[in-house]
This record gives sequence, structure tokens and C-alpha cells, in this order.
Amino acid sequence: METSPSPRSVAVFGAGYIGLVTGACLAQLGHRVVVRDVVQQKVDALARGEVPFHEPGLSELILANAGRLSFTLDASVALEGAEVAYVCVDTPPTAAGDADLSRVHAVVDDLLGAAHLRAVVVKSTVPIGTGARIRARLDRAGLDHVGYASNPEFTAEGTAVDDFLHPDRIVVGADDDATADLVAGLHHGVDGPVVRMDVASAELAKLTANALLMTKISFANEIAGLCEATGADVEQVMGAVGMDPRIGSRFLRAGLGWGGSCFPKDGTALKTLASRDGLHLPLLSAVIDVNNAAPGRALQRLKDEIGGVDGKTVTLLGMAFKAGTDDMRQAPSAVVASRLLAEGAEVRCWDPLARVTDPALWDRTARFDDVLKALAGADAAIVVTEWPQLRDLPWQEVAASMASPVLLDGRNLLDPAAMREAGFTYLSVGRP
Ligand code: UDX
Repeated sequence: METSPSPRSVAVFGAGYIGLVTGACLAQLGHRVVVRDVVQQKVDALARGEVPFHEPGLSELILANAGRLSFTLDASVALEGAEVAYVCVDTPPTAAGDADLSRVHAVVDDLLGAAHLRAVVVKSTVPIGTGARIRARLDRAGLDHVGYASNPEFTAEGTAVDDFLHPDRIVVGADDDATADLVAGLHHGVDGPVVRMDVASAELAKLTANALLMTKISFANEIAGLCEATGADVEQVMGAVGMDPRIGSRFLRAGLGWGGSCFPKDGTALKTLASRDGLHLPLLSAVIDVNNAAPGRALQRLKDEIGGVDGKTVTLLGMAFKAGTDDMRQAPSAVVASRLLAEGAEVRCWDPLARVTDPALWDRTARFDDVLKALAGADAAIVVTEWPQLRDLPWQEVAASMASPVLLDGRNLLDPAAMREAGFTYLSVGRP
């Protein structure tokens, strides 16, 4: 990859998924990067070359760029000589559904004394208007020479490094050309178009992209319900629908719905943001409702099949919010596990990577490393995450080992005919 002809000094605030990927990729592009985080353990682990979560290609990139990339707890060390400060801290939901911006504002406080700073770039997902407020704050502190840009990320977990280095677009929202040029220039070597716009539009572009992706998924789930009622097959329907390039085939997979660190939070944040301005977004509200109902709707079919789950052993295949990640934030597995436990089931679970973030729930389940042992003796199993290795299980043997071979495929991962042939009562989402 071509490196930048004018390497910059960059301070990245936040060593989470976004900050680390941003820092490592900017270093790969030739910039000198210091990543600052407030968690000592995380900084120590990163200094030893250990990435605290699973993200393909990230540790390799960090190691390969060790000469240009360092980690610190100290904001003033990160800002020494920094021309650009990237804000990549998380913006979790508040009780009211807004994005909590306290971490973003704490970083802005740290920036106020930086001597060489030319631009503050926000990558954290923030409500519209945040940029304007930070701009005003910089001006009040006498930093009107420091530019402000919104540079939202569109990277997905599991493919984040590739998404950063080969993006569909790089959105740069800035109110002056010099700042936009500086941020666009940081991406020299990345093969993707830079789209320039004003700050508020960049902030809204990010939330709108996620909301439209959520809409596609919920629409597929709504049609799945209709398929179940009429005998049509949602995979065939959406397969044909997605071949229209005006629609596109991705994000039309029906199942247990979306989870993760972005969609649930960003959907609610957009709704709350609109409501503060007296606006109602009925379409987005319906999209969220359909998603919230998806796990319950699928579970009901399983309960109807086996006569309820009280006293039964149910195995969850997958806990992560999607395959290829260890992230369990807002995972549909948590909804499924809680409902099963509340209705008296004994819950077993298996996942090759998942990092449990809610022990109060998962301590009430039994976790297995061996998927076959997790299934042996169970009354039913549910595919919750589309781990590809599940396709290759010896399903005939599994059926024989279960107390009753009933499987709810919450991700339409397996072949219905093959599963029935293996001896299963096989249920999936929107397929006959
Ligand atoms: C998402 C956006 O894709 C990314 O651009 C943004 O920057 C952050 O949020 P991510 O949360 O990593 O990325 O996951 P993604 O791959 O988009 O999947 C989101 C959820 O939707 C997962 O739970 C997935 O299982 C679900 N999904 C996805 C479906 O249920 N059906 C689909 O067709 C696609």
C-alpha cells in the first residue's frame, strides 16, 4: 500500500474497535500515531502487542507498524506534536435513549491545551449538532484556528481493517476547505472516494446509512412472517428481490434480527434525536419494533413444536451478535437465553469466540467448548449465530445423540432438506 507523501502526527483518543482500527490503519498509511486510552490494563496489553478483542488482521497491522504506533494513558503524551486529534471514544445510550457524549466532551477538554493541533476529527457516532457545539467550545477556548471535521466510520466488526483501507466512501464533513483537505489527505493511499459535505450532513449520513440497513433487515423479517403464513420461502423471495441493483442483495437475511454495538444504539439515538425536535419517525419506529419482536416470534414456533420449554434442555449454537466476532453487545442470544430461562428451560450454550459481557445472565447457563457435547441429550437446539462451522457438523450423529432432535435455525444457515434427512424436526425463519 502506498504511504502518505506528507505524513502527519495523529493522536487517537479511544482504543476500542474504532480507535484501534483507525490508529493502526493511519500508521499503515505512513502517519505517526499515538493512541490514548484511559484503561491502564488495555494500554499495557497493547504495548505488549496484545489486542483485547477479536478483529481479523488488526494485531498483525499493529505489529507491522510498531515503529509508528504507540499507546499511552497520558493525553499530553498523545498530543505532543499532534497536528490532528481523532475522537474515537464510545457514545453509549443514556437512560433516555440519547447518545451519552460525556466521553467525547472529556476528550475535547484534554485537547484545549494542545499547541500544534490543526484539526479535531470526530469518528465517534454522535447526534447531529455535536460538531457545532464542539466548534463553539473550541472558539471559546481561543482555538478558532483549529479546524473541526466529522469523519464517520462505516466499518463492520470482523472486516473493519479491510473496510477502512478499501472503503465504499470516506465521508468528510467540514466547514472549511483547509480542514477537509487535511482529513482527506490523511487517507492518501486508501482506495475509496472522498465525499465532502457539511458537518451536520456527515453526522446524519452515518445514522441514516445504519437506519436504512436496519430497515432492509426488518423488512426481510416482516416478509418472513408472511412466508410462514403462506408457505413461501423468504430466501427465494429475497434472493430474487435482491438481484435488482436498485435494491441490492445484502442485508436482506431474515432471522433473529440485528444486535451489536451500532444498530440498536444508533436506531434509538436517531429516534430520540428526532423526538427532541418534535419529529416522529414512524418508519424507523416500526423497523425497531419488528426487530425487537424477531427472537420472540421465532421462539414461539419452537415452543409450539415441543409444547413449551419448561423443564427442557435447550442448546444455543452461537452467542456473539454475528459470526466472525467475539462481541456480545446487544446480541439476540441474550434475549433468547433470558426468555428460555424465564420459562423454566435449562440453557446450554456454545460459541467459538464470544466474550461474555453480562455474567449475571450467562452464569445461569452452562457453556460448552465442545459443540457435540453441548447438543448431546438436549431437547432442542437453536442456531443463534451463523457460525459457518455449524454447517459441517455430523448432523445425523447429533440427531441421534439428542433427547429429541428439534432444531430452530434462527439464521437460515442449514439446508432444510438435509436436516430433515438427518432426522431433525427442522424449523427456520420464513421457510416452509
Ligand atoms: C454495522 C454497520 O454495518 C457498519 O457500517 C457500522 O459502522 C457499524 O454497524 P456491525 O454492527 O459490525 O456493523 O455488524 P453488521 O455486519 O452490519 O451486522 C449487524 C447485525 O445485523 C448483526 O446482528 C447481523 O446478524 C444482522 N444482520 C445483518 C441480519 O440479521 N441480516 C442481514 O441480512 C445482515
